[in-house]
Amino acid sequence: MQKLIINGGKKLSGEIRIQGAKNAALPIMAASVLCGEEIILHNCPRISDVYAAMRILTYLGCKAGFAEKNTAVLRAENVTETSISDELMREMRSSVFFLGAVLGRTGKCRITLPGGCDLGPRPIDMHLAALRRMGVTIKEEYGVLDCTAENGLKGANITLSFPSVGTTENIMLAAVLAEGTTVIQNAAREPEIADLAELLTSCGAKISGAGCGRIVIKGVKKLHGCEYSIMPDRIVCATYLSCAASAGGDIVVSDCRPSDMESILSIFEQMGCIVHSSADKIYFSAGRPLKAVSPVRTMVYPGFPTDAQAVVMAVLCRAKGTSVFVENIFENRFKHTGELCRMGADILVEGKTAVVKGVDRLYGAKICASDLRGGAGLVSAALSAEGTSEISNIHYIDRGYEEIETILSSAGADIIRV
Ligand code: UD1
Repeated sequence: MQKLIINGGKKLSGEIRIQGAKNAALPIMAASVLCGEEIILHNCPRISDVYAAMRILTYLGCKAGFAEKNTAVLRAENVTETSISDELMREMRSSVFFLGAVLGRTGKCRITLPGGCDLGPRPIDMHLAALRRMGVTIKEEYGVLDCTAENGLKGANITLSFPSVGTTENIMLAAVLAEGTTVIQNAAREPEIADLAELLTSCGAKISGAGCGRIVIKGVKKLHGCEYSIMPDRIVCATYLSCAASAGGDIVVSDCRPSDMESILSIFEQMGCIVHSSADKIYFSAGRPLKAVSPVRTMVYPGFPTDAQAVVMAVLCRAKGTSVFVENIFENRFKHTGELCRMGADILVEGKTAVVKGVDRLYGAKICASDLRGGAGLVSAALSAEGTSEISNIHYIDRGYEEIETILSSAGADIIRV
């Protein structure tokens, strides 16, 4: 089992380049199933979730692989399989995107429930309800979902009870080749949704309003191939800012999109960090002393993202004063707090609230990642801790971060993978 060993207390400096966004890459890879021609994806991160999506594409009879460093080539001329094995479905939550895409291409799809990080219950009821409105019959037996659109997928008016990111994307995937127009009301507005729409539009889809609460998709007969560059990962960017805020120092973060990150940057500024942005760079100086921020409420975009909660909490463990976090998106997203407490943090969790009383110092400890972003939060905390930390279960971190130890050590951190 691999581990990260971190000796804390080394300031960060230099430039960190931000990888392509996992949460844009995964639905985009599913979208390739809808196109009969080659898709060349630049800025595609080499992370384990992307490799899992490639395994699903291969299983479906498509071709998928990296041509060079961060350029992936996906070819779905032939889709020979319409069911996805339980083993592949369980590898990640985003396997569910292949439901909308395979249905859109073939009119049928058989899956089991998707896996992914355990953040509390993660149902797919909204995905299924929307697909039913589009003419899909879903038979659910022994954990297997047998989905068929006997008369083809039909455009529909769909109002979401909550602006779910995955549901919005799955409807878009199902709707681009459907007959007629689909309107999604109360759609999620995350930037990754606009990125998916941009890729689909480059392939010939007719989509307007992506990134707004009302998305209109006019079904077309066929999609063609394209060459596309995936947007930067705003959560990875938040993570490296968190690492610099924890460890101290000045960094420049490049190839990012600060305009997508206002709610996150504002929290770092409230902590006392100095943040200057250009169109694709952030010049960041860690504040000292760090100030508590309260409350930090996770919200749908453009609010503060739940995915950045753990990495921001890692910094605030050492701030002066008490910070309060309210987690409004997932029911059980405070698992990292127990591990932060092993390092000397003072955190009380009650339901969806975590109260973080700043302490003077954290200590290195043997800690265990419990999910992707929680694991990233532990890396950030360990960089500021006195002594050595040993982080296990790092396969969670590898789901979303490309060479995290190489990037941090080139910025001055003392971190190795063993
Ligand atoms: C996506 C992101 C994830 C992020 C989350 C919230 C990807 C690949 N993942 O996940 O990193 O943390 O958005 O920004 O983009 N819900 C239901 N029924 C459903 C669907 C969702 O009850 O059918 C609930 C979920 O349990 C959760 C809330 O809605 O409480 C938000 O989920 P959603 O926006 O769908 O998140 P994901 O798409 O899973």
